[in-house]
Amino acid sequence: MTHNRRQFIKAGVLGSAAVAAGVPEIAGAGGKRTEFKPLDILVLGGTGFLGPHMVREALRRGHNVTLFNRGRSNNTLFPDLETIKGDRDNGLDGLKGRSWDAVLDNSGYVPRHVQDSARLLADNCDRYVFTSTVSVYADYTVHNTESSPLATIADETVEEVTGETYGALKVLCEKRAAAEIDSDRLTIIRPTYVCGPGDHTDRFSYWPIRTRKGGEMIWPGSPSAVIQIIDVNDLANFTLDSVDHGISGVFNAADPAGEFTMGDLLEDSQAITGTTVDPVWISEEFAYEHELAGSRELPIWAPSTGANSGAGTYSGEAARAAGLHNRPERETARNLLSWWDCQSDERQTNMKAGLSREREVELIEAWKARIA
Ligand SMILES: NC(=O)c1ccc[n+]([C@@H]2O[C@H](COP(=O)([O-])OP(=O)(O)OC[C@H]3O[C@@H](n4cnc5c(N)ncnc54)[C@H](OP(=O)(O)O)[C@@H]3O)[C@@H](O)[C@H]2O)c1
Repeated sequence: MTHNRRQFIKAGVLGSAAVAAGVPEIAGAGGKRTEFKPLDILVLGGTGFLGPHMVREALRRGHNVTLFNRGRSNNTLFPDLETIKGDRDNGLDGLKGRSWDAVLDNSGYVPRHVQDSARLLADNCDRYVFTSTVSVYADYTVHNTESSPLATIADETVEEVTGETYGALKVLCEKRAAAEIDSDRLTIIRPTYVCGPGDHTDRFSYWPIRTRKGGEMIWPGSPSAVIQIIDVNDLANFTLDSVDHGISGVFNAADPAGEFTMGDLLEDSQAITGTTVDPVWISEEFAYEHELAGSRELPIWAPSTGANSGAGTYSGEAARAAGLHNRPERETARNLLSWWDCQSDERQTNMKAGLSREREVELIEAWKARIA
């Protein structure tokens, strides 16, 4: 079935007004309820952090989901779903000759991989949704909207994904997807820090989990320092909305810029854990001196000066206008803690981000000596 015929059929089923306006009815977010037409959805990378939330949301809406991955991550998560085993690196054979209503490309980091899958599936799907990132932007000292300048890489054949190449490679991934898929069938979503249950980075998690231990606790910058996240379930809802309502285009996915601060995070963390900490607010200068600024030791926070001073101010307005709903960050933290408490002792004693207790004690002593 060609995508043109599929589009025609879908337009008839969804109603031409909704499709033409491109403005969805919001389902499950307090808005008008929508009955979803059951679709066949292929998820490239449905078993990591974001993927399972998208898979569950798709199933909740009554869609059929097929997974494609290598079988290395959480491979017992969805025993009842069809899983096509393969590697995006020259291993797409299992996808040949098949068609889906929509593809959620959630594991594209290397431009060649995205090109290969988008080319193979272009005529075999109605919609291709690529999960990109706000790391695509060229300058993090400014307020970035979707039309801001994008990062570049000198050698476009590089395929090694590192902290330095990640953003520019995602730009190329977006371009390769756009070269293969018509713009009215392509959705590119650029999330900021994705937070919630299943997060294996522990960047947001560190703050409420550390707060729960009480005592003196380092907090960086000032309570008014702006930060920004996107709840993983809000992102999953928007991703599925883009499929169900035919939302095309490029969208940052982030909470409203400038509204959430380190002080709010402290307050929320104390409220949901029922613990009061003794916050030790260290200055940005001190954070820089101790290589804490922009580090995994004090995650999510970005100093108001320096290369990342604009992080926390991405515009998510286009996505909100198209239906993105952001829940309160406190709810994200609460859901996260419920998940965290079900993790193994080994997992809980090996956080991937945040200060170790020893380092925190050392830093607090150094800070007190500094301001004495
Ligand atoms: N986490 C964040 O805060 C964040 C923020 C912005 C954007 N993003 C974007 O969101 C997407 C998902 O991130 P995530 O953190 O959920 O990723 P993740 O946890 O690492 O999950 C990756 C998924 O892709 C599959 N996969 C990875 N490499 C593959 C390959 N070569 N061939 C086939 N399948 C492969 C994995 O399964 P197997 O290992 O079994 O193959 C897994 O299902 C990424 O595109 C990322 O750039 C994430």
